[in-house]
Order: sequence, then C-alpha cells, then structure tokens
Amino acid sequence: MPNQKAILNAAQLICVDNKGSTAKRGREMLGICIVTNGSLVVKDDRIDWIGPAADLPVLPSDAESIDATGKVVLPGFVDSHTHLIFAGSRESEFEQRLQGRTYQEIAAQGGGINATVHRVRQCSKEELKALARPRLERMLRFGVTTIEVKSGYGLSLADEIKCLEAIAELNAEGPVELAPTFLGAHAVPPEYRSNREGYIRLLIDTMLPEIARNNLAEFCDVFCETDVFSVPESERILHKARDLGLRLKVHADELSPLGGAELAGQLKAVSADHLLCITDAGIEALAKSDTIATLLPGTAFFLGVDYAPARKLIERGLPVALASDCNPGTCPTENLPLVGTMACTQMKMLPGEVVTALTLNAAAALGRSDRIGSLEVVYDVPDYRQIFYHFGVNHVERVLKRGRVVYAA
Ligand code: NIG
Ligand code: FE
Repeated sequence: MPNQKAILNAAQLICVDNKGSTAKRGREMLGICIVTNGSLVVKDDRIDWIGPAADLPVLPSDAESIDATGKVVLPGFVDSHTHLIFAGSRESEFEQRLQGRTYQEIAAQGGGINATVHRVRQCSKEELKALARPRLERMLRFGVTTIEVKSGYGLSLADEIKCLEAIAELNAEGPVELAPTFLGAHAVPPEYRSNREGYIRLLIDTMLPEIARNNLAEFCDVFCETDVFSVPESERILHKARDLGLRLKVHADELSPLGGAELAGQLKAVSADHLLCITDAGIEALAKSDTIATLLPGTAFFLGVDYAPARKLIERGLPVALASDCNPGTCPTENLPLVGTMACTQMKMLPGEVVTALTLNAAAALGRSDRIGSLEVVYDVPDYRQIFYHFGVNHVERVLKRGRVVYAA
C-alpha cells in the first residue's frame, strides 16, 4: 500500500521544479516556486497533489496529516560532498593554524589527511559505522536526507574496502540515502612516500578494478592539488575509473590554481568541487560542460582563506551546488543550513539560489536530480529565508523520507 501523508496549511511550500532538466544554471537558480498557504499530499516519495490549502482534495478518512500552520516545507537537502567515514579528531591542527601554520605545512609534517588515515586503519568496519551514525543523525536533524560519502582515509586496498563497505551498510540501515565515492587518491600514504608511482599503480591496477567489480562506489574522486596528485596523475586515475564505469568528481583548485577545474570539464566529470582558486580558464572549461560547480564555503570559513567566486560562476551561467565537506581536517561540521548562511553572507548568494544549490543542483552532482521533488522537511519558521537568516540554530521540526516521518523535534 502506498505511504500517504498530507502536510496542511503551510505558510510556504518551496518547490524546485527541474522542468525535466538535470540542474539549474546561472540565473535560473533563483527560480524556485513558492506556494503560500499551501497543502500537499505525498505518496511514497512523490508529491501526489500540491496547491492552495483551500483546494485540498478530500482525503481518505485514515490518511495521516501534519499541521504546518505558520511553517515552511522544503525538499530534503542533499549534501553532495562529505568525508563522513573517519576516526579521531584534529583540534590540535586547528589550534596550530590559529597560530599561523598553514594546512599544507601541517600536512607536510605528518598531520593532515595521513593523521586520520592512521586512526582509520586501527578501526574495524563496525567501529567506523558506530562513529559515523551520530554524524548521519545530526545531518538528518538539519534536514539532510541524501548524503554523498567518500572513502579516502584508508589508502590501502583492505582499508578502502572497509570504508566503502561501512558506507554501503549504513546506507542499507537508512533512513538517509548514501551515495558512495571512492577517494583512494586522497593522499599518498606514508608507506609509499618515496614511491608515489607505486601508489598510483596500486590505485589503477588493483584498487579501482576491485572496487568496481564489487560495485562499492558510484563515483571516483581525486584530490588534484599541489603536493598531492598532479593534473596528469589525476587524469590517469580518473580515466581508469571512467573506463570501469564510475562517474567522476574532482577536488579541484582548493588550495592552489592547479587546473583541476579544466580537467573536470575536459573529462565531463559530474562535479568539480571546492574551486576556491579557480582561474578564468577553469571557469570557461566548466561553462562548456555539464559539470556541477560544487562550493564548500564551510572549508574556506574554517581554514580562514578566501571563498570561491560564487557570483562570478553564477553570472557565467554555471550550475552551482553547495555541500558541507564534513571532515575532521578542514570542515568539522554537519550543519548544512549554516553552510547556506555562509554562502549568503560570504559569497553573496541569494537564499533562493542557496535552496536550488542544496536541492536540485546538489542532487545533480550525485546523478539523482530525477529523484528530487518530494517536500520532506518542515521548518518552524514562516519564511524560507529565515532558515539562513536566523543562523547557527536548527529550525527543523520534522523530516520525512519516502512518506514516513523519520525525525521529529
Ligand atoms: O575536502 N581536500 C581534501 N580533503 C578534505 C580535507 C581532508 C582532511 O584534511 O582530512 C577537503 O578539504
Ligand atoms: Fe572534500
């Protein structure tokens, strides 16, 4: 029997109608639709009816309904870039950066990603799942119903598989839907420090084929960065991933203008992420592609560096998504609405653009834009702009997934 629920008398129902396209580009991003004093009927994860509250069709007498008087209802947010599978924390690096050391200096001296790799290798799959569950729960409470999760803190065949299996098992537990990404090319692990070509061969010849064969990842990502993986190295890894049927993502131009955006555009990657240091050539490469420009302002905020040029990307007509980058090094937060506030105040995105960037365009960055449409989250505010305006607190009152209430405040 279909799962049917009515949400009644909302101050605003916010829809992001994709009109058949996979993402909204540039100025189209502002085009959200707002039904005031609206009601809707959800059947499973689809909207069955939506319109003015006064026109609500007669519902079966046993239909469940939720009163949303004075509240707003939005689609669930999609967090299309996270590194949620990790162990340990790195507050000492946070303090060192406040004293003037850079992320790169700390990484070069054994901190950074490899510090977390050390901790993850000591954990069992069950331990990693237990560490990730409260993070997923916090995200759900912030209205996030679909999350991309990367591996990338294992960096050996067995440890990367352990992380990807943890993601698959957490996805099966629900209620949040998880999209798995293989990020074996996150760093060169310590045992390959003097043999980086050996690690690249391990990625290409062993890890990628094994992960593809076992269907453990939908996407392959590479940290294309100075002193991490060069553009030619990233290209070799991504080519192999594409040949094996994985879709591509790139950590591009995060800390230096290396050319990751150009590579992402050229390889028709599904997304190019970060882009703090994107060049005009990178913008043009993305403008010629369908690649989603995924911005992660929480990372710039936490590292204390300049933000990505969101306005320039939008004015150039790119499809922009926003995500958290939740990870223990550069952005330890699950608060995606706060990331939306940062997008407004620090990158001058408008609240309507932020809604598109956190729903339709983020779903497109996961190849899931056809599944966006259902309104799943009720916020205890009368105007959707207050979600970003009244910042740093949680306004979510209720979250539905596939027509079922999965969180109530
Ligand atoms: O997206 N840039 C690479 N990965 C993360 C940082 C991971 C870490 O420092 O542990 C990022 O910023
Ligand atoms: Fe990241």
